[in-house]
Amino acid sequence: ATGLLADALGRPLRDLRISVTDRCNFRCSYCMPKEVFDHYHEFLPHAELLSFEEITRLARIFVAQGVQKLRLTGGEPLLRRHLERLIEMLAGLRTVEGAPLDLTLTTNGSLLAKKARALKDAGLQRVTVSLDALDDAVFQRMNDVGFPVAEVLRGIEAAQAAGLTPIKVNMVVKRGSNDDQILAMARHFRGTGVVLRFIEYMDVGASNGWRMDEVLPSAELLARLQAEFTLQPLSASAPGETAERWAYADGAGEIGLISSVTQAFCGDCNRARLSTEGKLYTCLFAHRGHDLRALLREQGRSDAEIAGALAGVWAGRSDRYSQLRGANAGDAAGEARGERRIEMHYIGG
Ligand code: GTP
Ligand code: 5AD
Ligand code: SF4
Ligand code: SF4
Repeated sequence: ATGLLADALGRPLRDLRISVTDRCNFRCSYCMPKEVFDHYHEFLPHAELLSFEEITRLARIFVAQGVQKLRLTGGEPLLRRHLERLIEMLAGLRTVEGAPLDLTLTTNGSLLAKKARALKDAGLQRVTVSLDALDDAVFQRMNDVGFPVAEVLRGIEAAQAAGLTPIKVNMVVKRGSNDDQILAMARHFRGTGVVLRFIEYMDVGASNGWRMDEVLPSAELLARLQAEFTLQPLSASAPGETAERWAYADGAGEIGLISSVTQAFCGDCNRARLSTEGKLYTCLFAHRGHDLRALLREQGRSDAEIAGALAGVWAGRSDRYSQLRGANAGDAAGEARGERRIEMHYIGG
């Protein structure tokens, strides 16, 4: 099966992001604001979650259709019990060309010091850690559960020592909340081999009260960095990449700018997302997913039948939300039906 999939806009399917839990021990205001995700919020019951066997079966089918990169996300993926077992199962998969997959994980880093070694031993290649500030007071305000920054830094060091490299650190920048941390973060990670990426605060989901005036455009962020450092543009290392890369001229490594608000990158978006309960989403801003779990459980379909369903969904895909947001169109049809956009903690980054 080398007839690789292309969607309605000619984009291939290369990247599958698998959410393994909708729970998180942080309450970042841009993702799971405390007021909404409080004591009364109901998370998915265990029986609704895909089992590791089900995830691995779906991943194998996706990989046979051309997927080359698997990212485990959440919520916070390290809260899912025995996650190393899933990683072991996924690490055995090979791309259609017979190469190992790019197997990675996005984490808030809170449990990384404890788990880095076991993750590496299970076959994980690298990790991306979300970290929004270096100053402890600012960081605790961002995660909104009083989690100390020192523990996340310890997690990053443990990941480095375990060889989960190259490590990326993702910083969501909210103007007025943590934009005073940009230079401190750059100074801290320069020359360490860690790639720091600055993410424009996005209007994902329906809970975070997003406002354009809290977005710090990457152009402005870059200007602030350039006041202190000399940076040179790098070319994209893979098609459909989220980040624009820049290198420190003095050889101290690179940074990335992820500008989904001011410079949408839908044009070659090759990412699919699988929710914790087995729904396939073809855009981060989708209202609705396609229920693959029903095909697995209720309908008992064969791998070939599931591959056919996947090919059909991908062939019909025309999502380009971030581009349309600029035109202020969004998914007007979905809004009109009163559907809520999916939340980031449910679908991962
Ligand atoms: P690498 O392979 O490590 O470079 O990862 P990546 O950049 O593909 O993925 P990562 O999960 O690190 O993405 C970083 C951030 O970019 C996410 O947390 C999101 O905020 C944003 N992002 C990732 N993919 C998309 C996407 O398809 N659309 C939009 N609008 N934003 C995205
Ligand atoms: N805007 C941009 N990035 C976000 N993330 C979560 N919510 C948002 C948002 N509103 C990012 C986190 C993390 C990943 C899981 O998604 O910072 O890196
Ligand atoms: Fe924060 Fe990530 Fe948890 Fe969302 S999933 S609340 S971004 S740590
Ligand atoms: Fe892909 Fe949707 Fe993000 Fe555009 S907005 S890059 S189509 S996930």
